Parts: sequence; C-alpha cells; structure tokens
Amino acid sequence: MKIIKAEFVIGVAGAKSIPKENLPEVAFAGRSNVGKSSLINRLLNRKNLAITSSTPGRTRQINFFNVNDSFLAVDLPGYGYAKVSHDERRKWGEIVSAYMQSRRSLVAVVVIVDLRRDPGEHDLTLFDMLKDLGIPPIVVLTKADKVKRGQRAQRRTAIAKTLARDSSDLILFSAITGEGKEELWKAIKIHLQKRVKI
Ligand code: GTP
Ligand code: MG
Repeated sequence: MKIIKAEFVIGVAGAKSIPKENLPEVAFAGRSNVGKSSLINRLLNRKNLAITSSTPGRTRQINFFNVNDSFLAVDLPGYGYAKVSHDERRKWGEIVSAYMQSRRSLVAVVVIVDLRRDPGEHDLTLFDMLKDLGIPPIVVLTKADKVKRGQRAQRRTAIAKTLARDSSDLILFSAITGEGKEELWKAIKIHLQKRVKI
C-alpha cells in the first residue's frame, strides 16, 4: 500500500464534536497501552503521526487521520486502564459508543489484542457491541515480537478460543518489526473496497 498522504485531521473529546461523515472510516480499538497508536504509525509508515506512550491511557480522544484522501483511520481511546476514574471510564463508553452507533461510514473496526495476554472482559464487550451494530471486526494480535516463535501458534489458538473465532482469521502483528502489516492492509482493503477505490 503506497501512502501518499497521512495527515492528522481532528481530535475530539466529546460525543457532540464528532465530525460529519465524509470519507469511509476504519477505527482502531483495544485496551489501553496495547499498541493502537503504534500500529497506526507502522501501517501508515509515519513515525509520530499518532502519539504513542509507555504510559497507558495516553490517547484520550478520538483522533482522525486522513489517508490518501481515500479513507480516515480513527484512533480510539483505549479501555480497561485500571487507574482512570469512574467518571473517565463512563466518558470513554459514551464517546466510543456514540461514535460507533452513529457512524454509517465506519466500514470495519480493527480490534487489537496483545498476543501475550488473554482477551479481557472489555475486549469481549467490544466484540458484542460490534456484533450488535453489524460492524465487522478485524482482529490483530500485536506485540508478536515479544513472543518466541515457538509459542506464537499456541497463543493464537488460545486467544481464538476465548474470542470464539477462527484462529486463521487473527492477524499476528508487530509495530517493531512490521510483521503482519501487509496482511492487515489486505483485510482493511477488502472492507474499504465495498465503498471506494483506493
Ligand atoms: P493508549 O493510547 O494509551 O491507549 O495506548 P496505545 O494502545 O495507543 O499504545 P501505544 O501505541 O502508545 O503503545 C504503548 C506501548 O507499547 C509503547 O511503549 C510502545 O512502544 C509499545 N508497543 C506498541 N506496539 C508494540 C509492538 O508491536 N511491540 C513492542 N515490543 N512494543 C510495542
Ligand atoms: Mg494511543
């Protein structure tokens, strides 16, 4: 995938300021600190487009990035960070569900899970939400570089089981090595092609 343009468009902190629909959108969701922003940067070949941090809960707003004027990549705030206040957690739920429920231009959500960890309650809630809304998930298991090659298949199978999905549907990814990037692009393009030519 040739990236000619990758630009920050807007960041919104409240459900009311979500911009009007324009281009098709692909959103990126997952627990706090799982590597959403790093994955977006790797996918778009930009080092610091989406702000990454080793402090969980860094992305607190919904950030929209224009890719090649053909779609928007949408970086969602992470969920499940224990240290955020009850109020902030409620705000997360409100903004993310308002976004997902109202977005006809949303063609797919890339759900990012750490290959080293079993998906938690919040991940499962997100999958339920997507199912109810009829939004297709693309499941990515990231930080693959942290798992020894010999253990990856076993981790993939265990996660697939928890998510009740086919293990071959899960894409292994690493923002460090770039592994899985082409496979992820392929999955994203399949959903985008239903709407636009890219
Ligand atoms: P929030 O916005 O806070 O929810 O986090 P995020 O999901 O956007 O995660 P972010 O991309 O900021 O990455 C969190 C930490 O994980 C950073 O220290 C990254 O360098 C690290 N990281 C992200 N992806 C990978 C990966 O594929 N491999 C390794 N080893 N580290 C990664
Ligand atoms: Mg982030």
